[in-house]
Amino acid sequence: MAAFRSEFQPRSDDIPLTSFPKTGATWLMALCHNILHLEEDDNILTKMKPHDVVPALDVVYLADQVQHALLDSGRTTGRLLHTHLPYSCLSEAVRNSGCKFVHLARNPKDMLVSMWHFYNKIVKLNPTMPSASFPMEGAVESFCSGVLPFGPFYEHVVGYWEESKKRPDKVLFLKYEELRRDPKEQVRKLASFLGKLFSTTTAADGDDDDEVVVEKVLWRSSFGRLKELEVNKNGVLEIGKVPNVHFFRKGTVRDWNNYLTPQMAERIDQLTQLKLQGIGLSL
Ligand code: A3P
Repeated sequence: MAAFRSEFQPRSDDIPLTSFPKTGATWLMALCHNILHLEEDDNILTKMKPHDVVPALDVVYLADQVQHALLDSGRTTGRLLHTHLPYSCLSEAVRNSGCKFVHLARNPKDMLVSMWHFYNKIVKLNPTMPSASFPMEGAVESFCSGVLPFGPFYEHVVGYWEESKKRPDKVLFLKYEELRRDPKEQVRKLASFLGKLFSTTTAADGDDDDEVVVEKVLWRSSFGRLKELEVNKNGVLEIGKVPNVHFFRKGTVRDWNNYLTPQMAERIDQLTQLKLQGIGLSL
């Protein structure tokens, strides 16, 4: 992280996408890429996983040799980049860069269940790790104690929420659940924030119907489509070599209901209420 903070030089037209792990970064990356590059017939996301198209700064700067080449991915302007770092941990250079940030938040119980599945899959890739699954009780305990990668969760989300209130023209705060509930409206909001006005010239086929363009962005970014692509079924991440398939599990809302006991859910709900009270944010 120190290398990212000290070495990364943002450009004012960079677009950092930010999220706590397992809140839907993959979806956000695909949506932003497809909004900005819809006119490209050759949709790169059919050949590359969203994380390889939108470089994760945390990972690029963690690699033994910083892979600067990945940062450009052929784009000289409007680079989409991603980080899990909390706002308070970003360097002054990034915070003062004038960049537009897009943050995606998610219900903490769904995030935790998603993270639990993800870590139980990736520990199995490491032969030195125990083969038994990490218990959900332990995951809930870690979450409530604030001990998670890039955590604590609440401070992370509140940091971006407050910044979005202070600078709404520079920080857009989205929620996974709202994207699921009203995807067209949310995509229009995202596109307008990114300065992309859908018009006749946006659609490669010349279709001037804004509705059709929004539907095309959503379809190209959809869970069902991405999950079935060969690259996401059988590919592995460029850095870290995590199988891409692990980033596409269920893609639903309230899956926590199938994994958390009522006591676990109640404990997290109480903490959420406590941590978010009085700031106008509900998750
Ligand atoms: P679930 O484990 O609940 O299914 P991240 O991308 O931040 O790692 O988050 C992963 C979560 O986003 C997983 O949630 C994954 O299935 C979901 N996801 C990935 N791609 C998605 C998409 N295109 N649409 C909706 N959800 C998606």
